Amino acid sequence: MSAQNPTSYKQIIYAERPDPAIIPDKTFKVQTASLPSSLRPNELLVRAHYLSLDAAMRSWLTAKRSYIAPVEINSVMRGYTIAQVLDTGAAVPRTKFKKGDWVTATTGWTEYAVIQDKWADKVDVPAGCTPLDFMSVLGMTALTAYFGLEEIGNVQPGETVVVSGAAGATGSVAGQIAKIKGGRVIGIAGGKDKCDFLTSSLGFDAAVDYKDPNWRQRLRELTPKYIDVYFDNVGGDILDACLARAAKDSRFVICGAISQYNAATPKGPANILNVISQRITLKGFIVMDYADRYDEARKVLAKWLTEGKLQRKEHIVTGGLEKAPAALVDLYAGGNTGKMLVEIAPLSEALPGNAKL
Ligand SMILES: NC(=O)c1ccc[n+]([C@@H]2O[C@H](COP(=O)([O-])OP(=O)(O)OC[C@H]3O[C@@H](n4cnc5c(N)ncnc54)[C@H](OP(=O)(O)O)[C@@H]3O)[C@@H](O)[C@H]2O)c1
Repeated sequence: MSAQNPTSYKQIIYAERPDPAIIPDKTFKVQTASLPSSLRPNELLVRAHYLSLDAAMRSWLTAKRSYIAPVEINSVMRGYTIAQVLDTGAAVPRTKFKKGDWVTATTGWTEYAVIQDKWADKVDVPAGCTPLDFMSVLGMTALTAYFGLEEIGNVQPGETVVVSGAAGATGSVAGQIAKIKGGRVIGIAGGKDKCDFLTSSLGFDAAVDYKDPNWRQRLRELTPKYIDVYFDNVGGDILDACLARAAKDSRFVICGAISQYNAATPKGPANILNVISQRITLKGFIVMDYADRYDEARKVLAKWLTEGKLQRKEHIVTGGLEKAPAALVDLYAGGNTGKMLVEIAPLSEALPGNAKL
């Protein structure tokens, strides 16, 4: 491999099961790893630049049946990054990957990684977009918003759409898509600044600050004709309040339940019987179910982005990989507006690639 590549680098391993809260220095540990002296035929050496922090990460730390296996103690924490190819194995076709290409991959929480070429997705940056968009407005959380609304929400013009976790990565895109589809969109988020961001910057029709003691009353006032589509990122009391406001034949897109992820005993909604009386379709989904349609969705999202109908918003934590554990805790505390990323290495340190930065 090239003499310019480092021989050692940092990774973060999952060290101790949270009970139930993540404690950055206990749950995770930094370790130094060494790069191999040569690559196997189908391997790529990549340098990770930005790490996605995802609400689902808390569930990956718990050993129970889920949509994906838990992370094993003492292994590198699972994570999705945008990375640049530094070197390729002898059998990797240059038409597929070459030095300088941007890829997204589940490299884990690491500065460098050696991965099999079949597990890397080459980033083909559409005009008017950037590689970083593949971690936010064209990334997994945006795809989640897209498929949740496309497959379950089915927003019709004039319908009332409520989105919780609305200022976060998934919710901010879900609300904007619902607006594009002609919905009257109400976002629920924590704090005045986030609510102002939703209405002033993203074009939501109204916002509810769930940290205000009168939030339930405001939600009632804003939904006089009830809720036709609810995109749920948080579960708990907010899901319950939205069930109480559900319109007949409404669709509840059950995307996530972040309010319950750190609870020792997650709680379900008391108003569940409204599913029967109001004939609610309440359906959960996992974005990976639509993996064969990501390209199709990205084309649509990129078109909206370049047309100015969709805004990108990232919350980038700088200072390197070591910042990831504390930043993950901050995600559950609502420290982010938009997509939370950790800058492992800035784009200014990237090799000149094929994609425009
Ligand atoms: N089904 C899927 O395939 C899929 C894929 C991706 C994500 N998701 C889900 O989508 C949701 C959002 O994930 P994300 O990665 O995009 O994170 P995010 O929304 O960018 O960040 C999490 C946000 O959750 C909010 N939050 C935290 N605790 C809360 C509580 N107790 N009550 C209400 N809101 C709370 C915080 O905002 P506030 O300041 O407003 O509280 C925080 O900013 C998660 O539930 C995640 O599991 C599902």
